[in-house]
Amino acid sequence: MAELTGSKKIKTAVFISGTGSNLKSLIKFSKLKKSPISINLIISDNVRAKGLAYGKIFKIKNKIIKFDKNKKAEKIILKELKKTQIKLICLAGFMKIISRKFIKKFKGKILNIHPSLLPKYKGLDTHKRAIENKEKFSGCTVHYVTSKLDSGKIIIQQKVKISNKDNTDSLRKKILRQEHKLYPKAILKIFNL
Ligand code: GRF
Repeated sequence: MAELTGSKKIKTAVFISGTGSNLKSLIKFSKLKKSPISINLIISDNVRAKGLAYGKIFKIKNKIIKFDKNKKAEKIILKELKKTQIKLICLAGFMKIISRKFIKKFKGKILNIHPSLLPKYKGLDTHKRAIENKEKFSGCTVHYVTSKLDSGKIIIQQKVKISNKDNTDSLRKKILRQEHKLYPKAILKIFNL
């Protein structure tokens, strides 16, 4: 990852589709002195994404882009990223698959958070599958994004115990609380901080 130059923070975009609780934790983190990043842009494919409200509170620019035509959508996003001089992308509950071409343009600069201990439970319904398989542990992972879904190099993981009282929803909430700490930790780690 690029070195930090002086006191300048790395301009970062967060991509969301829904609640945006990870976006919220990243915004909070970015305001700390120790944070190497600033959040300068929020991209959402969903005009109703709740997370957009957090961005508004902090006056962060957002761009809502319909993904019915992926190629066109990515072109618009790339233009916006360039305009805002974005150097790092954090996917946080972004439900669209980004093309190989796009990833190539931001090689090694796109991170994602996934609610399982990868390589276990790639894709959707991670908590349901973990409970059905009677796993003792699940967790979350921050990893680099490559064109293979949920398969890029792992940066950091946090294990979470599954109790026999857990259901999909309680496990989701338990893991989400850890996600909020893990994403900032991953960012500190990639900048060797
Ligand atoms: C999180 O569980 C994240 O790991 C997954 O999608 C969920 C997004 O939650 N990729 P939120 O929108 O950040 O609250």
